[in-house]
Amino acid sequence: MKTAILPTSDDAALATAVERAADALVAGEPVALPTETVYGLAADALNPLACARVFEAKERPLSDPLIVHLPDLDWLDRLAQSNVVALRLAERFWPGPLTLVLPRRSVVPDLVTAGQGTVAVRMSAHPVFRAVALAAGTPLAAPSANRFGRISPTTAEHVLAELDGRIGLVVDGGPCLHGIESTIALVGADRIAILRHGPIPAEELAEFAPLNGSGRGGVTAPGSLKSHYAPATPLDIVEDLSGASRENSGLLAWHPVSDEAGFASIEVLSQTGDLREVAANLYAGMRRLDARGLNRILALSMPGEGLGAAIMERLQKAAARG
Ligand code: TXA
Ligand code: MG
Repeated sequence: MKTAILPTSDDAALATAVERAADALVAGEPVALPTETVYGLAADALNPLACARVFEAKERPLSDPLIVHLPDLDWLDRLAQSNVVALRLAERFWPGPLTLVLPRRSVVPDLVTAGQGTVAVRMSAHPVFRAVALAAGTPLAAPSANRFGRISPTTAEHVLAELDGRIGLVVDGGPCLHGIESTIALVGADRIAILRHGPIPAEELAEFAPLNGSGRGGVTAPGSLKSHYAPATPLDIVEDLSGASRENSGLLAWHPVSDEAGFASIEVLSQTGDLREVAANLYAGMRRLDARGLNRILALSMPGEGLGAAIMERLQKAAARG
């Protein structure tokens, strides 16, 4: 299959891209679309065959459910059983990088939920994604547009590197704003459990209901396997650089470091240590280091508060072997 990239750089190109993407989605074909977090591989969430094509292109196990992206808020009640906390969260953070896990309704195909009693839903804030979802008029199941277990794409070029020849269309909306995947929260009537840290930090969710730290009532995000978001090059997280062997090693640093002699390659993710910038550049930096044939990558650890928790979660998964 030949993979076409559709630009959105001017109004005419944008209109064409939205129309072609929506037509393909309605016809049951997967299309890679930009979101404000990472690129997603979207399919009509109500069409099991279309969703099956997403699993196939990604080589994703069927046990790992998909996030459903709603065209508008009316769809929430049609797909899920909401509650007061969920509605308040949606009002505050949607469209945006927060995914809510709620009891499902039966119209959601089993393939999408991996047979679970819950469905994960969000509304993307990316103008291109929103336009395509509205034009298609159907909720879109969209996992990150990478092959399973690999680094999520934050540019259209990254999507090609992952899925060239496996899908028909990629809509190029430029680099993603946040650069890491949405926060996933299991939302009960009086409790929130964070299943994946992301751009909306735990501290902000705690204002809506108490967070259960460890006890999640047995619910986890099945895709949150230990090893994930992983470069092929072994990655280790270090507190500081003293004593680390630097031979043929790369450094992934969230702020500039003075002691950089001896590294074969260095990626500084932010000149000022701004964690938003670090998140936005994280996966592109990992990909560049991964392409350089290094023996290993050292990643500098950071404080796990706010966005730091989400970035550290990605580094820990990239560091996990097997
Ligand atoms: O930012 C994002 O969330 C991106 C963009 C494209 O929207 N999507 C994304 O999808 O990261 P994916 O498939 O790469 O990660 C979705 C995670 C997986 O770990 C999956 O197991 C979990 O969400 N998940 C999906 N449905 C779930 C459910 N019903 N209960 C618990 N976890 C669920
Ligand atoms: Mg993913």
